[in-house]
Amino acid sequence: MVRIVLLGPPGAGKGTQAKQLAKRLGIPHLSTGDLLREAVRAKTPLGLEADDYMRAGRLVPDDLVLRILRERLARPDVGPGFILDGYPRNVAQANELARISPVDRVISFDIPEGVLVERLTMRRSCPACGTVYNLSTRPPQTAGVCDNDQTALLQRSDDTAEAVRTRLGVYRAETAPLLEHFRRLGLLAPIDATGTPEQVAERLRWALESRS
Ligand code: AP5
Repeated sequence: MVRIVLLGPPGAGKGTQAKQLAKRLGIPHLSTGDLLREAVRAKTPLGLEADDYMRAGRLVPDDLVLRILRERLARPDVGPGFILDGYPRNVAQANELARISPVDRVISFDIPEGVLVERLTMRRSCPACGTVYNLSTRPPQTAGVCDNDQTALLQRSDDTAEAVRTRLGVYRAETAPLLEHFRRLGLLAPIDATGTPEQVAERLRWALESRS
């Protein structure tokens, strides 16, 4: 069983890497952002409550996120382990996670902030199959539509310049302190998240193998 957390600022490439790693290791990718966006789309009471926080780029209250995460962790596919992307986001969430499902490794994505704004404002994704594109580094073959199913691509409501600024501020203030938290616990393995997705995947593989 392997339980991995990917930690890093918005746009660092956590989701991109988590999807590939999940396939390679045969364990699910659990993204609290995706779970919350699903709840928003489905207009569940939790989704309706989370929506305003997410649009503004602020953290959704801990109790709501914990509820959605607990439900996901109760599903049988997490038996062999999981890759957690987007949780924990603050020390209270890290303590909660230690209680419900202690993790084995925390990989942090090191990347200069300047790169992130460009990556996020250029991101587009397919609402049908979830494929993530980037207008400058990974554009679709036909502008505006998904290569796999020709669905119109969407921009996330929190990928506006203003919400991105807020998200980066929230990361610095609330999430970055977790680096020290996990370092002290001996769980942290930082990787350089600049370069191509393939280069980052190789560093991620190395970081996981060298600590096993
Ligand atoms: P969440 O969905 O977790 O978003 P995030 O952490 O801000 O991270 P992103 O998904 O934006 O970035 P990423 O690192 O996954 O980058 P990606 O691989 O897509 O959270 C959204 C919101 O939900 C939060 O703001 C909050 O409101 C709420 N929330 C979620 N979890 C919460 C929690 N635990 N507590 C409270 N609230 C919570 O890549 C980005 C772009 O760059 C893509 O276009 C991609 O194609 C491109 N790209 C990726 N890698 C590379 C590369 N190596 N080179 C060039 N381009 C690349």
